[in-house]
Amino acid sequence: MLKKIAFSLSIGFGLVSVAGGQTADQAWLKYRPVNKAMDVPARVVALGRGPVEQNAANELVRGLHGITRKGELARNIRSSSVILGTYDEFKKKFPGWKPFGEVIPTVLYIHDDFRQDVPLSEQRPYQVMGRFLPISERFAIYRNPQLNSQSIFIEARNEIGILHGAFALLRIVASGGDLPPAGVREIPAMPIRWTNEWDNADGTIERGYGGRSIFFEGGKVRDDLAPVSEYARLLASVGINGCNVNNVNNAAPFLEPEMLRGLARIAEAMRTWGVRLAMSVDIASPQKIGGLATYDPVDPAVKTWWAAKVDEIYKLIPDFAGFTVKADSEGQPGPASYGRTPADAANVLANALQLHGGVVLYRAFVYNHHLDWNDPKADRARAAYDIFHPLDGKFAPNVIVQVKEGPIDFQAREPVSPLFAGLEQTNGAMELQITQEYLGQQRHLVYIAPMWKQVLDSALRADSRSTPVKEILEGKSFHRPLGGMVGVACVGRDWLGSPMAMANLYAFGRLAWDPNLTPEQIADEWTKQMIGTDPEVVATVRKMLMQSWPAYERYTGPLGLQTLTDITGSHYGPNVEASENNGWGQWHRADHEGVGMDRTVATGTGYASQYPPELAKMYENAATTPDDVLLFFHHVPYTYKLHDGKTVIQYIYDSHYQGAEEASELGKEWATLKGKVDAKLFEDVRARLEYQAGHAIVWRDAVVQYFLKLSGILDERGRARNYAGRLEAEDAKLSGYKAIDVQPWEDASRGKAVSCPQEAQNACSAEWTWSGQPGRFDIAVQYFDLQGGAAKYSILVNGKSIAAWTADDHFPSRRPNGDNSTRYTVRGVDLKLGDAIRVEGRAEGSDPAALDYIEIKAPDARD
Ligand code: GCU
Repeated sequence: MLKKIAFSLSIGFGLVSVAGGQTADQAWLKYRPVNKAMDVPARVVALGRGPVEQNAANELVRGLHGITRKGELARNIRSSSVILGTYDEFKKKFPGWKPFGEVIPTVLYIHDDFRQDVPLSEQRPYQVMGRFLPISERFAIYRNPQLNSQSIFIEARNEIGILHGAFALLRIVASGGDLPPAGVREIPAMPIRWTNEWDNADGTIERGYGGRSIFFEGGKVRDDLAPVSEYARLLASVGINGCNVNNVNNAAPFLEPEMLRGLARIAEAMRTWGVRLAMSVDIASPQKIGGLATYDPVDPAVKTWWAAKVDEIYKLIPDFAGFTVKADSEGQPGPASYGRTPADAANVLANALQLHGGVVLYRAFVYNHHLDWNDPKADRARAAYDIFHPLDGKFAPNVIVQVKEGPIDFQAREPVSPLFAGLEQTNGAMELQITQEYLGQQRHLVYIAPMWKQVLDSALRADSRSTPVKEILEGKSFHRPLGGMVGVACVGRDWLGSPMAMANLYAFGRLAWDPNLTPEQIADEWTKQMIGTDPEVVATVRKMLMQSWPAYERYTGPLGLQTLTDITGSHYGPNVEASENNGWGQWHRADHEGVGMDRTVATGTGYASQYPPELAKMYENAATTPDDVLLFFHHVPYTYKLHDGKTVIQYIYDSHYQGAEEASELGKEWATLKGKVDAKLFEDVRARLEYQAGHAIVWRDAVVQYFLKLSGILDERGRARNYAGRLEAEDAKLSGYKAIDVQPWEDASRGKAVSCPQEAQNACSAEWTWSGQPGRFDIAVQYFDLQGGAAKYSILVNGKSIAAWTADDHFPSRRPNGDNSTRYTVRGVDLKLGDAIRVEGRAEGSDPAALDYIEIKAPDARD
């Protein structure tokens, strides 16, 4: 018997080592040994044989084995075991047993709409949503010496609750902790805790920065779905219970029969981890793939088509979770084509899904991207509320309106969307972005949990009472049965493409489970599991994570300016004007006199009035608007004084310098962990942080010189456009290199760079003579690493090479600009008067080895 168990376990372990793809172990489920005596049994006994429960037991064995070096699956209960079971299983095994978890824990909220004593099947109209009730996912972990000495019990209403419990115990043990004497009783705060993946059928991922799709390739579902199971395992470990697998754009082909069969395989790969499959659908599908003449949602033939399609899906995927809809938005078709509303469209889908227990997540991201920039009343921020608030109460009970956290689009900072308070009779979910589209695309360390937490805690004061966003999503504020959080993750075969970015996926799940956790607590939990339990490591990583979002906001777009990036292109590097003069409505309206978008009722777009009265009043007046969103609500002169008396323009300068300085601190803090963390991880993160520090300077200089030129107001600290130690490439003695104007101009130092043209046989150089004091210096070379070739660079002092490197990264843009402006630093170079410093660039393909400047500074000199 023992042999048999050992054999089946080793099979279990083998399955998860996914060839060529990531495994959950490469994220936070590392289960590293904890060097301390642990008070946790090694034997794991599952009372039931269900697949999810068995999975939970296997995971526990695997985790305990890793952490404590002991762990075995057993059939018989002994005095010291971890015993897993549902209430029914416990009742059978231990006569007289009472559920420990019946005591209502602090995070528990039972929706008023449900009566606990009436079977769900008899509760209308919400009975179909029984599968979504948080109460069905609750669990308890405790010791009960009366039942069995030394054992730990994990009990839950159903198998999925057991799985959550197993992961909760592992989280405690992996962090080097013990089960609290009073046990643990938990229930998720919100029923909807989903990720959205924006994967396309061809294997690419919209806004994905972690490689190709784990789900699709070549127009089909991939043969190898082992990484999907690993992903589901990772999601389950933080309580995520749904995964919408395809892009919200171009979703029609996903309803084709062959694709649906593939989706059924995906659902199967996730099922034992309690993660249900959902999919994005295109409202025009009845026409696009159904061959109907119309997709008017209220047309009887269209309704019938959807009902039949939904039946087809449930035959293949009995636990299918539902649809996500992007309609009338950014080119996606929608009900507006027929003069119908989002409610008309959502309800047709909802009615079809209702019979099977599915839901519709209808996105409130509906807006016109052909707005008139010259119209001072036009305002994209208004759109979601203007369209959805009048429909409040008109949505079917199994529709959830999915609202982005801010009114624009995942910027470095936005005010909270007023729509959360504008839907009292409609279920609401908040959409967040885990993938860092506007937050440095995983190349920058930005821990987003503090931003999410601020949003969750935001007091919207609907009906002049306490209605923090988290309580609206939990259903407490307006007594809604369904609600939750949706995180746009866009993971690929390299997960998020950066180890530190995984903290965001982790934090998303944890906050959706319990929005009362703090970002610091979550950072500690994640670090202990992902990096190490050494207190110095935990404290340092926590500090770095907590600094990262404020720093990013400071060096990109402070004061509610939004991320001042190329909004029509990469969404990555600086491009201040890209927001203006187009229909996309991400305007900041900076001109020679002032900056900011007037959204007041008195003189602006009136957006401020969409908030409940207390907030509307606060935002209407610049003096009472918090500084961090001032320019989102008000157009003010550059000399306008913030609450601390500093002018707006000086704040823009100071904040960019401070943010860039903080970005460089991140690398210094990480450097203190050398030898204390895994060597490969150390080097990987070190290199990323070094890049980030350099790119933060690109951001700083771009935004600062842009506003200096536009406002004509000098930096009172004299830094703007005065770069200590900087030698411009266009001023160097050039051989082959030709000076070019960079677009946008602010992305290059003083607007110019040099580029190596083909007629120079691709071999160019720029040379400067050192005229400063002799000494030891760091030399930073600022160059443009373009796609389409791997240019080579070297730096020489008096003809002797001191460093050489290849520009072979893959940045978003093909032209030299702030997307690809990159810094290479050579440290500790001895220079004396008259030394010749030369950078040689060898162009390759369409990468012209473009060069912006070099900067020579004493080590640790500050700007
Ligand atoms: C952003 C993003 C798009 C995405 C859209 C959405 O605009 O850049 O790629 O499709 O959001 O949320 O639908």
